Amino acid sequence: MKTTEIRIVVHEYENIGELPEADQVLLQEARRVTSMAYAPYSGFHVGAAVLLGNGTIVTGNNQENSAYPSGLCAERVAMFYANANYPDSEIKSIAISAAKDGILVSETVKPCGGCRQALAETEMRFETPIRIILDGQHSIMVLHGVESLLPLSFSKKYL
Ligand code: THU
Repeated sequence: MKTTEIRIVVHEYENIGELPEADQVLLQEARRVTSMAYAPYSGFHVGAAVLLGNGTIVTGNNQENSAYPSGLCAERVAMFYANANYPDSEIKSIAISAAKDGILVSETVKPCGGCRQALAETEMRFETPIRIILDGQHSIMVLHGVESLLPLSFSKKYL
């Protein structure tokens, strides 16, 4: 038997002002679009902003549905729009923010499993690691690459 430890590295910042300038801009965009989410069922408003290799920023927010599984998370709304409209441009970074009752979440927001898998696909497609910025009132986390969010993932390698 062999045991392997998988390490992930998370950089934590106390507030948005501590982030590098480009991350600040992206996170501000993610924060801005949370207020436009359509989330009448959960009341949980998520915003995502994606920075493309060509410098374009694309945003998205969660879109819920009365038939719950028909809704979509903010991250995938933003990423899929980016990939649909800029199919030749890699995604460099994604910032994710979330608010309840208009107030930034206290605990740092983490993407769901489905969004992690979608991020992994995009990263593999463009062969460029995606920088991930996760918002929260007390700690903003920055991760380099989806491997840190989804180790041991399924991918096209198996197909
Ligand atoms: N949600 C996101 O937009 N992103 C995530 O990574 C987690 C959850 C949304 C889906 C749903 O509209 C609401 O948050 C509550 O789950």
